[in-house]
Amino acid sequence: MSNPSGPDLFSAKIHKMQQEIRTDFLVIGSGIAGLTFALKVAPYGKVLVLTKSTEEETNTKYAQGGIAAVMVESDSYEKHIRDTLVAGDGACNEEVVRMVITESTERVKELIAWGAEFDRDEKGRFDLAREGGHSEHRILHHKDNTGFEIERALLMQVHSHPNITVSNHYFVLDLITQHHLGAYVNSKTPGIECFGVYVLDTRNGKLFTVLAKATCMSTGGAGNIYESTTNPVIATGDGVAMVYRAKGKVADMEFVQFHPTAFYQPGQQPAFLISEAVRGYGAILRNAAGEAFMTRYDSRGDLAPRDIVARAIDNELKQSGRACVYLDARHLNLQDFTAHFPNIHRHCLQAGIDVSYEMIPVVPSAHYTCGGIQVDLHGQSSIRALYAAGECACTGLHGANRLASNSLLEALVYAHRASLHAVQYAAQASFCEGIPAWNAEGTSHPEEMV
Ligand code: FAD
Ligand code: SIN
Repeated sequence: MSNPSGPDLFSAKIHKMQQEIRTDFLVIGSGIAGLTFALKVAPYGKVLVLTKSTEEETNTKYAQGGIAAVMVESDSYEKHIRDTLVAGDGACNEEVVRMVITESTERVKELIAWGAEFDRDEKGRFDLAREGGHSEHRILHHKDNTGFEIERALLMQVHSHPNITVSNHYFVLDLITQHHLGAYVNSKTPGIECFGVYVLDTRNGKLFTVLAKATCMSTGGAGNIYESTTNPVIATGDGVAMVYRAKGKVADMEFVQFHPTAFYQPGQQPAFLISEAVRGYGAILRNAAGEAFMTRYDSRGDLAPRDIVARAIDNELKQSGRACVYLDARHLNLQDFTAHFPNIHRHCLQAGIDVSYEMIPVVPSAHYTCGGIQVDLHGQSSIRALYAAGECACTGLHGANRLASNSLLEALVYAHRASLHAVQYAAQASFCEGIPAWNAEGTSHPEEMV
């Protein structure tokens, strides 16, 4: 999935010792949020997408279960809205929930028009799955690697757009605001404004400045700061930290979602996810004594919202002193299971578990950052010219606990809304002059002391 032209073009400029790059739109992160925003603003100016790893190495790529959306008549926006509010445990912003869910159909159709393929039955109807907290089958999926398929489709679109450059291995360090400029801008600009970013080229250690008329933060979540997590190493909350350092508003960071069923494999970092869709397909959680314990905790059983299932497992582990519980798929048709979950089946086999006669050992693992950069209905952060979309943003959709498969949807909806606002904003904006070069004074080696 690499883009040969993007990084080379960009590197060429740096090698000419150009310290400062200018772009109309700057996008930080190449997951579903960043790439969607890039595609939407590209008709209106030059877009630079920076990513600290390779472009496809994102949480998006690892998404398994799918994307929740109202796509059939037997479902309704009201049902999806209610499920989202119930899962969020009273802490969602209902206006946001209504907006995101009612825009779900249109945004997903757009993703399909960009080339993302979702599984269908023999009659061509979507093969909709069900996950915890959903009252209906409404999860569009591509087998058990939906995120990989979405990332593939978006990167293909992005690579074919002449206005978009994707540059790999550029680690964004800090936002540039009037804090870097002193009295000159303070006297002219009320509030905080983002003029661009300082960036490190991780391949050669060079630092430079990118100036932009509008910037979209789409750096994903912070799951990888936990020892046991489903998140890849890129998920370290950098965007949230940058906004916090620049005195922007950050909210709900205490709401960290633990996925109930990561494959129990001590030392494996990140932990391999066993999708909630496996329970939606009929697999049953059992404790070491073989008891199907979930109905003791919640009448919705194995498909209760994620926070409830994760806490129930935690309680089982504490009471039994065991290291894991089990997901039992032995009663399911193996051929169908393998067709639906080929990667999960393969991973289990490689780890020595044959799901047709052995249960899968699972534990809860840090999975999703519900909080983040506070944004309004247009994806605007509290810092002018800075938008945020995707897992790094706190929109109010998830409240205290995200409903399964609402994350990819939120990223699509907010990238779209942020792009509409950013295009208007950039049309009247100009680049800030007189930005000083990165000043490393006061920084120290990041290695933690033991
Ligand atoms: P990401 O896709 O994580 O992209 C972040 C980008 O920011 C990356 O390109 C990264 O390199 C870049 N970046 C970060 N910091 C910097 C920096 N300092 N400088 C430059 N670049 C930076 N959600 C669902 O809705 N359905 C699912 O089925 C589902 N399954 C999941 C399964 C797994 C295993 C995991 C881990 C998550 C799953 N999620 C799912 C959650 C969902 O995948 C993510 O919330 C979503 O993909 C986040 O997208 P994003 O665009 O916000 O960020
Ligand atoms: C899963 O497939 O269980 C993950 C879904 C999600 O994180 O929304």
